[in-house]
Amino acid sequence: MKYYRTIKRHLCYKYLLSKCRWLCFITTLSVFYIFIRCYSFTSELTFMNSFLETEKCWNFNYDDQIPKLILFWTQTYMRINISLEYWNQKFNDKTCPYHQCEVIFDRSKLCQSSALVFHLRDIDLNYLPQHRSAKQRFVLYSMEPPHLNPKFVANMNNYFNWTATYRQDSDMITSYVYWRKRKKILGQLAEQDYLKNRSAKVAWLVSNCYSHNHRELYSERLSKAINMTIVGKCSKTSSNICNKTIRECLDQLANDHSFYLAFENSFSKDYITEKYQHQIELKKMIPIVFETNHYNYQKLVIPNSYIDANKFDSPENLADYLKQLVLSKDKYNKYFQWQHEYEAYEDPTKTFLCEMCRKLWNKNEPKKVYNNIKKWLFEDANCQRWSSNKNGTIPIPIHESIVYRDP
Ligand SMILES: *[C@@H]1O[C@H](CO)[C@@H](O)[C@H](O)[C@H]1NC(C)=O
Ligand SMILES: *[C@@H]1O[C@H](CO)[C@@H](O)[C@H](O)[C@H]1NC(C)=O
Ligand SMILES: *[C@@H]1O[C@H](CO)[C@@H](O)[C@H](O)[C@H]1NC(C)=O
Ligand SMILES: *[C@@H]1O[C@H](CO)[C@@H](O)[C@H](O)[C@H]1NC(C)=O
Ligand SMILES: *[C@@H]1O[C@H](CO)[C@@H](O)[C@H](O)[C@H]1NC(C)=O
Ligand SMILES: *[C@@H]1O[C@H](CO)[C@@H](O)[C@H](O)[C@H]1NC(C)=O
Repeated sequence: MKYYRTIKRHLCYKYLLSKCRWLCFITTLSVFYIFIRCYSFTSELTFMNSFLETEKCWNFNYDDQIPKLILFWTQTYMRINISLEYWNQKFNDKTCPYHQCEVIFDRSKLCQSSALVFHLRDIDLNYLPQHRSAKQRFVLYSMEPPHLNPKFVANMNNYFNWTATYRQDSDMITSYVYWRKRKKILGQLAEQDYLKNRSAKVAWLVSNCYSHNHRELYSERLSKAINMTIVGKCSKTSSNICNKTIRECLDQLANDHSFYLAFENSFSKDYITEKYQHQIELKKMIPIVFETNHYNYQKLVIPNSYIDANKFDSPENLADYLKQLVLSKDKYNKYFQWQHEYEAYEDPTKTFLCEMCRKLWNKNEPKKVYNNIKKWLFEDANCQRWSSNKNGTIPIPIHESIVYRDP
């Protein structure tokens, strides 16, 4: 029986092979072709890096150049059209001691530029620079959390020399959040009543309804346990739209909401944005944040200025705490006491350019290249998502962070 089956299978293969020799051949060829197409991009980059030293940028003397040119090879968010004047005023500001740099958009000055800036969302693979000097710095620039960067960046190894992002381990940090310790501790901050008889109500201004980190699943549970107003596209009540500036809408919401849900659309390393910053500027609602990457988080937020949802066993548990908090004016007001020691401010130089200029002029600045950008940009970010079953977060697989886009 066994013997018979083997024979039969053997014959069958033989038969198939004779019948479809051509078909097999063509299939193999197409698989091979697809394979080559998929991997050609990576090899293209390797190729570009390999001939960079032989090409025409080779002889340029970057050391003697004044000012040092910083070429924005891409735009920054195509549709916003940020002007040259805007970027260059960063060097004239009195808070920046490094003036001898100039931002340009002119790609014909490629070889004269000490640094090239690539805003990740605007990179077009058909228009990458064709020449490169080993003395130049190619700068990865992004303000987006991992999953909103284009996925091909994960393959761009040995391409970037520096990074400019909100991550604290970037070469140049370009933060969303600005606050500092006061030079002098304010002794007698007038005993202000921040609660102002408001009840326990949570406000949430949001336009991204389905997120990578499933924050909407958290807020759904929270909204069943405490009164919550959702303003923006995700609101089920169509009149709940913010028709003014975000600041004006927040100010209005603060009239009858004592808490603000400041959840980011990505729970990942160092990603804290204006959602928190707005609240420490406004000083009317306590921001509720979701802290997942403890290591740096404490350095990015003002101590005792927020409530960390992740410290509670469940959304319902958090709701109970919030309801308790408004029963005591003193306990609620404690979340605003940080103003004795700290202050939020708006930084007019909110970019990485000043620091970049300093580095470009520093003769001892070491050579550097990111040889595993996928690890740095995606893996090290440690993206997490809320899991309602677990009442906690679980890690998001790396490949999902690379291909996911918020709808
Ligand atoms: C950007 O602005 C410049 C000058 O203000 C203008 O010439 C250019 O057409 C604009 N580009 C886009 C894409 O809007
Ligand atoms: C809060 O409510 C109390 C009692 O209802 C009232 O006396 C007080 O004036 C209110 N305070 C504010 C700031 O509205
Ligand atoms: C929401 O507020 C109303 C009155 O302001 C109250 O009756 C209701 O119990 C609150 N809902 C929750 C879930 O706390
Ligand atoms: C915002 O505008 C829409 C349509 O113009 C209107 O229906 C809505 O009531 C406005 N909302 C507020 C809060 O003013
Ligand atoms: C920048 O990266 C390129 C490509 O890997 C490398 O050849 C070059 O030495 C680096 N330049 C500096 C100044 O670090
Ligand atoms: C999650 O929280 C809810 C509400 O507190 C609770 O009923 C449920 O048992 C919790 N689940 C786990 C896995 O802890």
